[in-house]
Amino acid sequence: MSFLVLFCRAGFEKDCLAEITDKSFPFGVTGYGKVNSGDGLVRFYPHDPTAVERLVKQLNFADLVFARQWFVAYAELDDLSEQDRLGPIVEVFSTLKPMQTLVLEHPDTNEGKQLSKFCRKFSNPARQVLRKQKLLAAKEKMSNTTGSHADSVVGSHIQPGDIRGHLCFLSGTHVLVGQSIEGNTSLWEMGVPRLKFPSEAPSRSTLKLEEAWLQLMTAEERMSFLKLGQTAVDLGAAPGGWTWQLVNKGMKVWSIDNGPMNQALMDSGQVVHLREDAFTYKPKRPVDWMVCDVVDQPSKVADRMQRWLLERWCRYAVFNLKLPMKQRWPEVKRIFERFDADFMAAGVQYELRAKQLYHDREEITVFVRRL
Ligand SMILES: C[S@@+](CC[C@H](N)C(=O)[O-])C[C@H]1O[C@@H](n2cnc3c(N)ncnc32)[C@H](O)[C@@H]1O
Repeated sequence: MSFLVLFCRAGFEKDCLAEITDKSFPFGVTGYGKVNSGDGLVRFYPHDPTAVERLVKQLNFADLVFARQWFVAYAELDDLSEQDRLGPIVEVFSTLKPMQTLVLEHPDTNEGKQLSKFCRKFSNPARQVLRKQKLLAAKEKMSNTTGSHADSVVGSHIQPGDIRGHLCFLSGTHVLVGQSIEGNTSLWEMGVPRLKFPSEAPSRSTLKLEEAWLQLMTAEERMSFLKLGQTAVDLGAAPGGWTWQLVNKGMKVWSIDNGPMNQALMDSGQVVHLREDAFTYKPKRPVDWMVCDVVDQPSKVADRMQRWLLERWCRYAVFNLKLPMKQRWPEVKRIFERFDADFMAAGVQYELRAKQLYHDREEITVFVRRL
């Protein structure tokens, strides 16, 4: 029986399940889920098991907020023999389409992390056997977005529609075997881009903005929307991790925060620090980018972000919505529905993408642009 597997941040399984249940419904797919809080994994079983393949073609993966990665699981093998793990895995893959790429994954949990060494060790033998059986391409293609070097990878790139195999290990003898379709899945194993902390950046949250640009924009959009000489406002900027990213792109930045900004960043000459309130500050002239990492009620932050976009104070926005409440998906849904209603009422077209990033904790990150 096939079912959908979704990876999410540990502790957010119920939100991920509530969202996939909601978003499957318009495609005529209903189902039920299995979650254990802390597993970092959701199993979604459509009532009609044949519907799952249709769902992963019709529902846009990028529209899911809480899912980091997904694939259709065709088997859950929970009693693999340590002497022959590959036999049953090959048996499952031999009933499926041949694959262009393969990933070995595990949930992003403390127990899961202990499996990463095992996955690395198992990777070569698994690939060799699958290639020999002609179930995996002899030369695997590369993802065209890998970490910070996203725009500079050369080689034979994956194409939309290519089939990716997934082996998601839950223990050394327990694996979910499945496939996803390139172009409608996360580009990264487990949905997590590997980013290196830039040592000059003033705070670790710098990685949140870097990941947001990677996860929420395509490589073409990054080239076109992020340009040298642009202007930006950073609301709730101190000590300057996000400002650092904007400066690093060659922008002039107005950083709004009562707290102190990193001195080296100020010495760049590209930053104006204003000790003002993020909820009342208004730029003298429109800017290209507005980013906001203020910790406050999500609806209050969303209202302010909406004002910036509707008033044309910025063209592009990236902001965080902190979600300390229990029912996070209903809250996110309510906020986005109101956003939509208000933009519609103002006759303004916009595009919104949101994700709970790897570097997000109890929050999600949103990218919005006016069209
Ligand atoms: C999570 S920190 C921002 C970290 C920053 N993005 C970085 O990368 O270094 C949140 C910041 O928002 C600021 N803040 C909170 N409420 C604010 C408000 N109403 N106006 C301006 N800044 C505010 C806090 O002073 C704090 O520095």
